[in-house]
Amino acid sequence: MRIFLEQKRYQLLNMPNKIIIAIDGYSSCGKSTLAKSLAAKLAYVFIDTGAMYRAVALYFLRNNIDFDNEAQIVKALEEIKLNFVYNASSLKSDMVLNGENVEAEIREMRVSEKVSEVATIGPVRDFAVAQQQAMGEYKGIVMDGRDIGTVVFPTAELKIFVTADPAIRVERRFLELQITNPTIRKEEIEANLQHRDLMDTTRERSPLKQAEDAIVLDNTNMTREEQFNLALSWALAKIG
Ligand code: DC
Repeated sequence: MRIFLEQKRYQLLNMPNKIIIAIDGYSSCGKSTLAKSLAAKLAYVFIDTGAMYRAVALYFLRNNIDFDNEAQIVKALEEIKLNFVYNASSLKSDMVLNGENVEAEIREMRVSEKVSEVATIGPVRDFAVAQQQAMGEYKGIVMDGRDIGTVVFPTAELKIFVTADPAIRVERRFLELQITNPTIRKEEIEANLQHRDLMDTTRERSPLKQAEDAIVLDNTNMTREEQFNLALSWALAKIG
């Protein structure tokens, strides 16, 4: 966290008129790719908030935390320290859980299967949102998630709601996961995405929904470059 704040202070001195860019949308529709490239172009900090929920889910799984036991959850959250550390090869930050780099492990299917459930838990959301808001204190940040434009930064200068055709999302996720897991099946991915969409949109606390002032970006028929150029033009218009 201290590294972020120092980075932010540095940016504040060097780049006036910085904004907050909130990117929300369904799982696997290209939010992180877009957020990462926008942040790199603007020299902003990129925060993948899904990674924070994934790291909490991983801790809960490793420590057999009962998702229905609030006292146990609150105690567990006191033991969790989340940090991001920059990875020069992926040009993004890796998730660090209590000093351990868990970037690869939090992307595994066993975490994906449980993370949406963990993200419905009130104390978990309070824990994550407080840290996310602190990271945005000095602006100059691109944050992606489900509730960034609605709850974390309701006054963000630019809000983008990303969507894509479900079949395209499955295909993209399949290609991504196949690299590390050649035996993964498309049906498994499709079921997981459907489950997560349902959990994310119907949960009581901060469900995934488009903020009223968000711009919708449907990237079904766009290349990454087209999507990036469009979002960058919106960002530059806001930055002035
Ligand atoms: O973006 P992702 O697929 O890595 O996110 C993992 C899960 O975390 C997703 O199922 C929903 C949840 N999430 C959330 O509830 N709020 C956020 N701001 C980010 C993610």
